[in-house]
Amino acid sequence: MADTNEAGPNQSAASNGAGSAAPARVVIPATTLQQPLARGQRFAHIVGWGYQVPDKVITNHDLEQIVDTTDEWIRSRTGIEERHVAADPGETTASLATAAARKALEVADVPPGKVDLIICSTTTPEHFFPATACLVQNAIGATNAGAFDLSAACSGFVYALSMARGQILAGDAEYVLVIGAETLSRFLDWTDRETCVLFGDGAGAVLVAASEVPGGIVATDLGSDGSGSNALILPAGGSAMPASLETVSTGQHYVSMDGKAVFRFATRVMASATRRVVERAGYTIADVDLVIPHQANLRIIQNAVYNQLKIPEEKVFINVQKYGNTSTASIPIALCEAIEAGRLQPGYKVVFVGFGAGLTWAACAIDWRTPVEKHDTSWWKTTRRQATYSAAVARTMWKRAVRWVYDVLPTDPEAPAKEPAKEKEKAPAEPKEAAPVRPPAKG
Ligand code: ACO
Repeated sequence: MADTNEAGPNQSAASNGAGSAAPARVVIPATTLQQPLARGQRFAHIVGWGYQVPDKVITNHDLEQIVDTTDEWIRSRTGIEERHVAADPGETTASLATAAARKALEVADVPPGKVDLIICSTTTPEHFFPATACLVQNAIGATNAGAFDLSAACSGFVYALSMARGQILAGDAEYVLVIGAETLSRFLDWTDRETCVLFGDGAGAVLVAASEVPGGIVATDLGSDGSGSNALILPAGGSAMPASLETVSTGQHYVSMDGKAVFRFATRVMASATRRVVERAGYTIADVDLVIPHQANLRIIQNAVYNQLKIPEEKVFINVQKYGNTSTASIPIALCEAIEAGRLQPGYKVVFVGFGAGLTWAACAIDWRTPVEKHDTSWWKTTRRQATYSAAVARTMWKRAVRWVYDVLPTDPEAPAKEPAKEKEKAPAEPKEAAPVRPPAKG
């Protein structure tokens, strides 16, 4: 890029070797490209939200029956009292994500066909591939949407919001569905008291929409320190250590964590990322009306947000006691509950801040403009929505049936021509002794 821009317009026309008839390349000096741009007239607002958690609740007292722990230890070290766990095999990352996504669309009153992109942040996807986002896309009938998964552990939801904002500000999307969904309980060693007491399952989703109204997601700050990748890791199952009898028998498919290292990292980056994003948004810490931090551990929030940032308790939303650490789902679940509790109003300056495996961190500042009062959904809208989802199921069955027919058709018009069956029949019987392999005759 730099070389090209240093060349003058005349040089560039000659250097493309197309002779005098070739059009001159338009070369913009690097200094011009690097000028800060004026903000476009597009803004990215959260206009819908929803969450879903599994039915099964496991309390600290339940855990006392499973591992050598106490309710008192868990409460005092983490603030967690209970968590929801996907006990039903039908409850999966995709099913929770789909339910949360449908609720977000309902709140926004936007039909799935209008969604341009679905980003599902998860570390516990339905499969290695295809992406969980594609399963959600199919289940909600978002037939015009692209879909992909994003992996940034507990910071992932804010990473995904940042991607959604980028798509919208670039003019490439009008509606982006951002989902954080996890079923970490399926990757926990339920005999390891140092990890199994911490996590829970769930999903949260928001619909981000393009708007000309100033505000919305105004700034983001994303970071990573891969030198700490071994502090929180699921060692096996990837290309470095594919699944084998040995990886299974040695418990390498479970979450492995250096809790103290993560704790130190988290308290540092939560404060610094919040400061940076607030400054980038043009606010001060005192301007912030509500902080929704990643709900991993009450002590981390107290240390980073109350003590270091001096943000008072009444400006911080906490629900870690009910759900434990739901990883990337924790911020959107907390957002929904903050709205339900009347803790978020239009005009508020809001900060989301998270940290997680990677190690990663992410923060975003939001100038919240969307009305939050509950509006009654008419029976007609509910029925129409249900019909859309039923149509999505029917569409899937139809498409799969068509693929099946193509598979079993004797002559697939698009397949390469096969050898005629008769020629196969004529093929000579297997020789009793294998004929020696000879090189082809010359000439
Ligand atoms: N019950 C009882 N005792 C326990 C338990 C338990 N569940 N777990 C550990 N202990 C014991 C330890 O064995 C240790 O015993 P010892 O002193 O005899 O060796 C003792 O308690 C103290 O352990 P510490 O590690 O000092 O406890 P600490 O105060 O650091 O709290 C904790 C541990 C809660 C894990 C904390 O370090 C923490 O929250 N770290 C951050 C973890 C986190 O947030 N991870 C998620 C990141 S987000 C993501 O990407 C998924």
